[in-house]
Amino acid sequence: MNNQTPHVEPIRLVVVPDVLSMAARGADEIEVVLKDAAQPVLGLATGGTMEHLYPELIRRFQAGKISFRNATTFNLDEYYPIEATHPQSYRCFMGEKLFNYVDLTLTPVEGARWGQTFVPNVGGEHVGAVCLGYEQAIIKAGGIDVQILGIGKNGHIAFNEPGTSPWSRTRIVKLAENTREANARYFGSSADVPEFAVTMGISTILEADKIVLLASGEGKAAAIKRALTGPVSADCPASYLQLHPNVTFIVDRAAARDLALP
Ligand code: F6R
Repeated sequence: MNNQTPHVEPIRLVVVPDVLSMAARGADEIEVVLKDAAQPVLGLATGGTMEHLYPELIRRFQAGKISFRNATTFNLDEYYPIEATHPQSYRCFMGEKLFNYVDLTLTPVEGARWGQTFVPNVGGEHVGAVCLGYEQAIIKAGGIDVQILGIGKNGHIAFNEPGTSPWSRTRIVKLAENTREANARYFGSSADVPEFAVTMGISTILEADKIVLLASGEGKAAAIKRALTGPVSADCPASYLQLHPNVTFIVDRAAARDLALP
């Protein structure tokens, strides 16, 4: 091996019995960063999987085990177009599931509209400027210490759908029809789910120091298998995580169903 060859560790796989253990192990990863870093930077996600993680973080905060006082958070994505006040916006989701219950500042500070929390909501601004500004805000915060991810049944991470380039950065994307169908449960029908989203890109995600992907349920089993053992390919954007040196998958038994485990 010459000096130019990158040393890539395989993805660490942690299989836990159920979704509650998945949430607890995921919260452990965040707890370590909150305790170790002077100014922790967390990359956060939304969706059903995270609805198990965030109550666990709130419990630990209420028990005095963790504090977000010095943290900055960056969410992966947001629908476009959508008002920040829309009940199905990811800005609202984060307020209802986590932000409103912990010690994060949500009022404007030094030009940051939502204090210590960032969600790529475009509002009335120029979408290209918002995307560039998001990347710059991550850099200004010192980069993401730990990025939490869910995974789509089609292998998407954030809203990087199959076909996404590994060089992609924060940008506007068209949602896959099966992603809109999967998210119809929040909107009433898939026709009401916005057609577009703003999402961090694969390159943006791969720049995090550490990446932790959470998954539960049989519906994710095929995507987990492809991400871990398939070729690194745009067909399964989560497979790009094989290129990162510090990735942990925390999955319950059902999501690990298709893996040949001892
Ligand atoms: C959400 C996100 C998506 C979800 C994925 C899984 O911010 O980035 O990639 O993580 O669609 O969603 P759930 O957890 O609802 O199955």
